[in-house]
Amino acid sequence: MSINAEKTSFLKDIRSIRSYKNDPIEKEILMDLVDSARMAPTARNIQPWEFVVVTDKNILKRLSEVHSNGGFLKDAPACIVVLCKKDTEYYIEDGSAATQNIIVAARVYGLKSCWIGGCKGPFYENDDIPMCEGEPCQILPLYDDLCSQLKEIVKAPADLEVISIVSLGYSDESFVAPKRPLSEVMHWDVFNNK
Ligand SMILES: Cc1cc2nc3c(=O)[nH]c(=O)nc-3n(C[C@H](O)[C@H](O)[C@H](O)COP(=O)(O)O)c2cc1C
Repeated sequence: MSINAEKTSFLKDIRSIRSYKNDPIEKEILMDLVDSARMAPTARNIQPWEFVVVTDKNILKRLSEVHSNGGFLKDAPACIVVLCKKDTEYYIEDGSAATQNIIVAARVYGLKSCWIGGCKGPFYENDDIPMCEGEPCQILPLYDDLCSQLKEIVKAPADLEVISIVSLGYSDESFVAPKRPLSEVMHWDVFNNK
């Protein structure tokens, strides 16, 4: 089969966008995003997930106030909170696969989105703060507190963990985060064989 990079280009232009128009997102679209999420692969097909679709402005605002890296949620018309049962072995991977399905499906509907980190564990150790768009990422304060507050806001049961929050909305914004080139990250058969 010959290469058809045009067919994959829609994947390559998915970018994390953090500001949105006020336009609401149709309910059927939000339902289809979750329908797409639930089809993602899971280890041993356990499907340990639950999805809370939030369109209530007050709840979006409360989430934005609690999550120090998700302040833009208050101006989003919707978000989807991805939760997984934390007593399953691969719940982070499972929830991450579902998260990415939401982001890809959102792109199909012309929506912009941003993956907002969930409750995997303390984000960063003191000297190990990664860069977010050229600036040191904010350290989430009082980590456990954050997780329980997020869950409290969406009234999630205690045995679930927040894997991610995907903010969603229509937007004309584009932002091109630099990516490592293919030639640098790809190896044939063995590492470093270019
Ligand atoms: C696991 C994970 C957690 C993330 N958490 C946040 C976050 O809390 N807030 C945020 O604004 N962006 C977050 N992002 C988005 C990244 O900052 C973004 O993907 C990265 O800067 C690359 O930009 P791009 O998605 O536009 O290519 C997260 C992405 C991932 C995969």
